[in-house]
Amino acid sequence: ETIQLQKFEEQAEQLIQSLEKVKFMGSKVEIVKYQNFWCRAQGLKSILHYQYHFKARDSDIIIGSLPKSGTTWLKSLIFTIVNRLNPDHHPFKQNSPLLSHNPHELVYFLENGVYGGNPKLPTPLQLQQLPTNSPRLLSTHLPYASFPESIKSSSSCKIVYIARNPFDTFVSQWHWHSKLINNWGGDPEFELPTMEDYFEDFCLGKFPVGPYFDHVIEFWKQSVKQPNKVLFLKYEDLKGDYAVLNLKKLAEFVGFPFSNQEESEGVINDIMELCCINNLKELEVNKSGFMHKLIENKYYFRKGEVGDWTNHFTPSMVERIENLIQENFRDIDLSF
Ligand code: A3P
Repeated sequence: ETIQLQKFEEQAEQLIQSLEKVKFMGSKVEIVKYQNFWCRAQGLKSILHYQYHFKARDSDIIIGSLPKSGTTWLKSLIFTIVNRLNPDHHPFKQNSPLLSHNPHELVYFLENGVYGGNPKLPTPLQLQQLPTNSPRLLSTHLPYASFPESIKSSSSCKIVYIARNPFDTFVSQWHWHSKLINNWGGDPEFELPTMEDYFEDFCLGKFPVGPYFDHVIEFWKQSVKQPNKVLFLKYEDLKGDYAVLNLKKLAEFVGFPFSNQEESEGVINDIMELCCINNLKELEVNKSGFMHKLIENKYYFRKGEVGDWTNHFTPSMVERIENLIQENFRDIDLSF
């Protein structure tokens, strides 16, 4: 077992060395292209571990997303939906673990969490030992094509994907990376590129798990092809007029539908209120705690609005993304 693992580590190291490295946002942080997506060179080993060693169960619920598309929000919603009748969390408005934990501590990331050696999260072995009577809620940013086969085909686990319009995803990523890049690169002298400089890389797909369009489109296609396996949600549709409808769809999809009584008692609204950004960002744990030792929990909660991009985009940036949308979504029935 130890020898096998050592061999795996060596092979992973060789692979990482063989890939061409590009400086992300002009910083010391290196990204590499692996299986047609970009990722941090430093994070690739845990991606490989996850790809080769994770075994999905039929009852697993896997959240897929591009960074900054609403992952934290979807985690809090699914966690609450699945656990709302759990006697330990009852009534969830008062007793939900979300009130004292960051959502990423309740729904673990696979590649940069469980397989990334985060001491706050269970190890892969502990993950395998979790009870089988309730679904494990897990998440990943990898593109669909790079999912382990046990998620894609050899188990009947469910995948819920959240997509966000490329304009807001870009703005949210820019804010996020500007806060984190010094931590990742350990270079306090580093001068941040302007938003417009980063925009070029975003459009070329050169950011962790980019390109944007390949990621979103593949999950969209899979959701059409396998509607019982993959649910495709849009960040924008979890707000406003369609929010209730989508929450009902989500609850049904993960196997925890709302009863008529729950609907008439306003449970759906209660869940939306518990999980709304203004509630979560004011909780002590999210104001002061840390994830992965270096990411402040408060970074996960910024504005949470649809259309913040209008405060940042120049007309030429708008045109560029609109052209990319037209080009990429031409043959598919998807719009934002
Ligand atoms: P903004 O930077 O536009 O505010 P992710 O969770 O995938 O990292 O995405 C982060 C984005 O989702 C950020 O967007 C963040 O503010 C927003 N967000 C976090 N929690 C949210 C919630 N409960 N409701 C709506 N948006 C939320």
